[in-house]
Amino acid sequence: MNTANHKVIPLADCTTHGKPLQPHAYNDPALLEQELDVFFLKNWQFAGHANDIPNVGDYLNFEMANNSVILIRGEDQQIRAFQNVCRHRASRLLEGESGHCSKVIQCPYHGWAYNLDGGLRGVPSMDSFPPLDKASMGLREVGLENMHGLLFVKIINSPRLGVAESFGDCINYVRAYDLENYHQIGDPVDEIWNVNWKVAWDNYQENYHIPIGHPGLNRLLDVPEDEQTYSSGVSYSVFPLSKQRSSVPLEARYQELAHVAEHRVPEKFRGQWFQVGFPHNLGMDFYPEMLDLFQLIPLTVDKTLVRASFYGPKECSAAELELRKVNIEINTQVNDEDKTLCERVQKGLQQSNYSPGPLSLHESAVAFFHQAVRDRIPGAR
Ligand code: FES
Ligand SMILES: [Fe+2]
Repeated sequence: MNTANHKVIPLADCTTHGKPLQPHAYNDPALLEQELDVFFLKNWQFAGHANDIPNVGDYLNFEMANNSVILIRGEDQQIRAFQNVCRHRASRLLEGESGHCSKVIQCPYHGWAYNLDGGLRGVPSMDSFPPLDKASMGLREVGLENMHGLLFVKIINSPRLGVAESFGDCINYVRAYDLENYHQIGDPVDEIWNVNWKVAWDNYQENYHIPIGHPGLNRLLDVPEDEQTYSSGVSYSVFPLSKQRSSVPLEARYQELAHVAEHRVPEKFRGQWFQVGFPHNLGMDFYPEMLDLFQLIPLTVDKTLVRASFYGPKECSAAELELRKVNIEINTQVNDEDKTLCERVQKGLQQSNYSPGPLSLHESAVAFFHQAVRDRIPGAR
């Protein structure tokens, strides 16, 4: 696709064409089936970082909507993604969220064996089968893009814009961070929220709720610019850190320490946080000290797996480590607040005869998203 057509959508356009989705769009299981196909399986999904699988044979297993994809590092150091399904009779091959295979992926059912590059290597009792074309019986490859170390898979092939292309000009912000050399901090944190995934995505994409919904965050930040949205669905906001010292000790500690990681980013990115919404389920919060990823994986029409994972530079000073720890504590609180706010909305959306109000200019990314849902999911209109 051509990135020349790929421009920031003016806020006014986002708002004038955007009426909110009606409540049934958040409550109808039939719509979820269509959304999983259109917005999730045929779109890029974050699956991990290249540094999560540093050695030959290391793998990650990404699961979504009955699909499982393995990302594995081959003997040539290349990472490839495959359907985690045996070509013989469909057994799942590798279990767990991550692991290691030495040389061969062997099916635990009848023992078909695959090379780390997916090629079929061996079949027990080969001569009991009709003639087998081994070259065409390797593991099915899945679309994979490595954007500065972040690995994205596309479970069903579709003509989507590439991951990096989707960022338009704001890829220049992303490049300011040393993502390639980031390593995972701790384990990902999974939570179940009792919400339709769109409630959580709406919430992630607007800053209008910060002053009331997140008093702590509001003390730390100056008023952010309204989010900008690209025609690809990527949206972003820049949050300047407040210079006014918070009276809450944890927040004040963050403010005291913030400067210790600033050398990691160019001058223009200091003293601010940068947030990207990657359509339609990955929030990326860039801080000078680390990257916080917020990922939505729909489970049912009113249950969503919310995964938080953190990446940052490997070698850090003690002060930087403390800064990260304080950041994670503050953002865990924000996440808890968001969970409560979103679950209240999901309950409200089930009220009989509820009819939604208008969206403000500060909710333009939500308006744009709702229009994308109506355009692509006929039942949501
Ligand atoms: S299902 Fe894998 S070897 Fe039979
Ligand atoms: Fe929030």
